[in-house]
Amino acid sequence: MAAQFPRMRLRRLRSHDRLRTMMAEVSLERRHLILPLFAVPGSGIESPIASLEGVSHFSVDRLLPFVERALEKGIGAFLLFGLPERKDARGDSASDPQGPVQQALRELSERFPEALLVTDVCLCQYTDHGHCGLIDGDVIDNDGTLKQLAAVALSHAEAGAHMVAPSDMMDGRVGAIRTALDAGGFASISIMSYAAKMASSFYGPFRDAADSAPGFGDRRTYQMAATNGREALREALADEEEGADILMVKPALTCLDILARLREKTLLPLATYLVSGERMMLRSAAAAGLLDLRRATLEAHLACRRAGADLIITYDALDLADWLD
Ligand code: PBG
Repeated sequence: MAAQFPRMRLRRLRSHDRLRTMMAEVSLERRHLILPLFAVPGSGIESPIASLEGVSHFSVDRLLPFVERALEKGIGAFLLFGLPERKDARGDSASDPQGPVQQALRELSERFPEALLVTDVCLCQYTDHGHCGLIDGDVIDNDGTLKQLAAVALSHAEAGAHMVAPSDMMDGRVGAIRTALDAGGFASISIMSYAAKMASSFYGPFRDAADSAPGFGDRRTYQMAATNGREALREALADEEEGADILMVKPALTCLDILARLREKTLLPLATYLVSGERMMLRSAAAAGLLDLRRATLEAHLACRRAGADLIITYDALDLADWLD
């Protein structure tokens, strides 16, 4: 009897619900998710961010019940951003022990020791010019910025952060921060570097949320060009060498190739950040009736996991926690 054609039938393993579930190569679980939080000065403030539907600015007192609800839903890791009272050329308020991030860290770490508190370490929310580093004439002063960033990271560690995430893209920041943390007695605080971060138009909604758009020029002398995959790998491997514990690729959906390539090049855990514009692209399409938000959001996050992300920073963590049931 002649062999039947086709011999290879990949559909066999898709023929039963249970079998499809058994064959899933990756999964998405609450433990993979990190929820960004925006802390503002003052009290009694919980104000929705217009550009980022479903995300709010919180004063520290209002952040506490919000985090409690997240923990109840099984979301236990948070990435803190702060909007300071005042900005100056050097972004000094970023390391103010009374700043919103530092205050939030003290209160959250005391009230919810089970929560993992990660902080974004950067100057752009704190400088009056909106750049991620110090300005010298019309250039960004890389090495001067390193001292500022190390001071910011140290102030976060002192206030109770478990992990710091430098997002500035200066050369040498991971090493500078590691040295400062170790010297300050924080050898056990880990560093998740925004290792390969593109100069991306998909940060648009975030810059509204964080009031961090550059006042002049753009970020292309420090963030990476979307054309460069090899260079992204160099950035990531440099951060590993300087002592990063986790490497992040950002944005997520436009950089899945970089994530997958990096997975082959390092043994470190990897993270990705499904950024504001990527999220709002899905939400806008769903609002226009073009796709199913729940399925599209799950698919996008699963694609990040498949590409190699151990962790995903995502504004959708709470919705996902509901949808994963
Ligand atoms: C700060 C920072 C940015 C984001 C995270 N950290 C903005 C930027 O680099 O301009 C973007 C996050 C998002 O779009 O959701 N440097």
